[in-house]
Amino acid sequence: MSILETIPRLQERIKNELSGCNPQVWTECPLDDYIRCLDRYPPLARWSYVSRDVLQYGNKIRGMAGEEGLGLYHQALLLALIARASEQLPAKNFPADIPSLYEEHFGRIVRGIEQKSHGPGFYVPPRCCKDLTICTFRAVPAGMQLLYPFRLPRAPFLKPPLRRIVSWIRFVGRFGGLGPFYEMHTHSDDTRGLLEFTRAGAARMYRRAAAMLRRNASFKGLIGGSWINDPALESISPRLAAVATIATDNGARLFCLGPCNAHGIEDATQFSHERRQLYQEGKYTPMEYFLVWPRKELLSWAEKQDLPIAP
Ligand SMILES: CC(C)(COP(=O)(O)OP(=O)(O)OC[C@H]1O[C@@H](n2cnc3c(N)ncnc32)[C@H](O)[C@@H]1OP(=O)(O)O)[C@@H](O)C(=O)NCCC(=O)NCCS
Repeated sequence: MSILETIPRLQERIKNELSGCNPQVWTECPLDDYIRCLDRYPPLARWSYVSRDVLQYGNKIRGMAGEEGLGLYHQALLLALIARASEQLPAKNFPADIPSLYEEHFGRIVRGIEQKSHGPGFYVPPRCCKDLTICTFRAVPAGMQLLYPFRLPRAPFLKPPLRRIVSWIRFVGRFGGLGPFYEMHTHSDDTRGLLEFTRAGAARMYRRAAAMLRRNASFKGLIGGSWINDPALESISPRLAAVATIATDNGARLFCLGPCNAHGIEDATQFSHERRQLYQEGKYTPMEYFLVWPRKELLSWAEKQDLPIAP
């Protein structure tokens, strides 16, 4: 059964479950009103951005149906958005295999709802924000990661030393402004994406990013901050380091933002015995590096990759 055939059945199930919390929710908080609020989001916004309208709407639903009801409401919302996005997708004129990556994500989200795979809180912002951005086309799925239209961050670079501030202002000046760029973000619920953290998977994503840049002439390049960009990984985790070195060997620039916070340390050490041990022995400190791959350099790398993108 296709996802478009599955959606009405799931919507019916959720409607009944949410009516058990409070039947008034459907009449007082119509999905269409919520969707109109999402459609008013600014074109450049963080993946976790929640507008005041949406916050108020969510609070109203929570007040009427509780946390469980809010989670059910968001499941119905995601399904309605997927039904709409599936119709809109062919006319969006995305490059090459981006539409099929959208369809994979839609399938993953629908299966998660159908199989009740996720625990309490999963369908409440900020937990469900990345899925909402996919279903409203604010995120572009590119395989290994999602791409978000965004701008260069200011705060991390405007801290002393003065040398760093001056070098950053010069760098930004070269671009004629802070954006827009495509910003890379990992989606930890996207198992297929996580398996793409290899040299080949990263190359596939960078070529998709290049294709997006070609379609969008005003975009200045690709950006992203992560512990994965740390050059120290070249000796500790060479397989994973290739994700960043493809870019840095081909014109991307790295800016060290300092040691990772507790969340970044957890990300960097949880799946690797080697990194965890080195961290515990004080021989590895996860560091946050911000990568900027300017448009010209990324497109010039992409032009040299003449093989078709493997599925
Ligand atoms: C980002 C992430 C997906 C990369 O995962 P990964 O592909 O497993 O890469 P890692 O280098 O961390 O691999 C983990 C372990 O599996 C091993 N491994 C990975 N692929 C392997 C393969 N094909 N064959 C054998 N071993 C392999 C690695 O050697 C490593 O173990 P070790 O360091 O003790 O030797 C993963 O670290 C993650 O999910 N982190 C949390 C989320 C996160 O960091 N998000 C932000 C990213 S920007």
